[in-house]
Amino acid sequence: MFDYLIHILAMLFTIFIGYRPPWIKKKLLQNFPAKKDEPKVKTVRDIPGPFSLPILGTRWLFTLGLYQTNKIHLFYEEMRDKYGRIFKEEALFNIPVINIFDKEDMEKVLKSAGKYPIRPPTEAIAKYRRSHPERYASTGLTNEQGERWHFLRTSLTNVLTSPKTIHDFLPEVGEIADDWCNAIKQKRNKEGYVANLDELTGKLALEATCALVLGRRMGFLIEGEKCEAAEGLAEAVHKNFIACRDTYFGLPLWKLFPTSSYKNLCNSEKVIYELASELIRTADENTMESPVFQSVLKAHIDEREKKSAIVDFLAAGIYTLKNSLLFLLYQVAMNPECQQKILDDSTKAYLKACSTETYRLSPTVNSLARVIDTNLELGGYQIPAGSVILCHSALACQNEMYFKDAKKFRPERWLDEEKQKSASAAGYILTPFGYGKRICPGKRFIEQVLPVILDKMVQTFVINVDRPMELEFEFLLSPKGHTSMRFDDRT
Ligand code: HEM
Repeated sequence: MFDYLIHILAMLFTIFIGYRPPWIKKKLLQNFPAKKDEPKVKTVRDIPGPFSLPILGTRWLFTLGLYQTNKIHLFYEEMRDKYGRIFKEEALFNIPVINIFDKEDMEKVLKSAGKYPIRPPTEAIAKYRRSHPERYASTGLTNEQGERWHFLRTSLTNVLTSPKTIHDFLPEVGEIADDWCNAIKQKRNKEGYVANLDELTGKLALEATCALVLGRRMGFLIEGEKCEAAEGLAEAVHKNFIACRDTYFGLPLWKLFPTSSYKNLCNSEKVIYELASELIRTADENTMESPVFQSVLKAHIDEREKKSAIVDFLAAGIYTLKNSLLFLLYQVAMNPECQQKILDDSTKAYLKACSTETYRLSPTVNSLARVIDTNLELGGYQIPAGSVILCHSALACQNEMYFKDAKKFRPERWLDEEKQKSASAAGYILTPFGYGKRICPGKRFIEQVLPVILDKMVQTFVINVDRPMELEFEFLLSPKGHTSMRFDDRT
């Protein structure tokens, strides 16, 4: 309530003093001066977008409740329908955020990145970590930029991304998939429903990520095993993503005083750090032999960086993997003929096609953010270096211009004679794990895990779902509320 009042007062004050954004007059025109006889160059100022207030920018749309941040994906869809391939939002102090929906523009943005691509940091996390130097030597791989980021990236991720590491991990993934199917059998009710599938999927995601990073089976999927750490971590990571969303997309009043969302963020960061530290502390000899863990321990970096990297790897894998697996199961449940095709296909190519098609239709990361480091022309407008660009990859992937029957789940488009055409359409827009030098270091691992789990599931169960899945934006695109599915034994 207090936050809300401050928003309204700030809004009235800025209207009263007649503030106008400084960039309108100075910065952008300086970058692209219009010469006398030349036609006017279209700049950021000319990009269409919703009405922007002085200082507050377009965030008032959310402050006044016209749109909700938990449905921000619908807001962007509406803006795309209204403005076309490009539109402009304005953050606090009227900093423009350029939103693009077109493949050609995304290609320019993603390809233009130099040696150190910049992804805008989650500022609230950066602030929290800077205020805890006893734990963090930097803001972490995900939030650092420039040389510092490059140093961390090369020091920490080579083994995690190596094909050998992932290949050697395959037998373990098979065992985890077996445990997961047994857990489903134990959790389902007489009719075959698992009502809290999201909770169980969270445990699977944590079990798999811990197995990779800590080299150790935690037993989170075994009935009767103590799962306090798993439940605590899953809950804290969930809260952390929601707090990131609220601090990132809301008015950044947390910069002035600790708002409730900033406090939630601090608490969840603390809990994640402590629970993950406990997992590291109780490491056994298996952990000591884990290639990923070893590579981090041996890295020539500050001791604090090592621990926070392990913490970040664990946190990065849990919620993303959980959502992605739920989306995949949902798609095959909605398309029972796909389950039969999985059973019939001895090459296993169809399994991978199901994952790719799920990334296309419901990626948990639905847009990619970059700060461009060179001037670009996007959608007919001149955009200066330093601008923040949001590439709406998920919406582009559902555009008929790029994929026929774009809203339909059709794994076949990734196979046989259609394969080439789809792969070429997918370039620069099908980016569920990002793009270029900042691409997700967990990509290979996830691309291996999802098809193995799906295969095991379909061999064991007929997967059914009764109702459409509603989506919610929690910084990641997630299923809304609890997910329930029915698992009948395959006879
Ligand atoms: C389904 C699961 C996952 C998805 C969809 C996903 C997606 C992404 C995306 C989209 C990015 C941003 C990339 C960019 O800006 O170009 C990213 C970054 C990152 N991911 Fe993942 N991720 C997943 C799992 C994991 C796992 C399992 C780990 C670690 C074990 C991980 C660690 C990271 C890290 C450290 C970064 C920051 C990389 C950097 O900035 O250099 N992710 N992820």
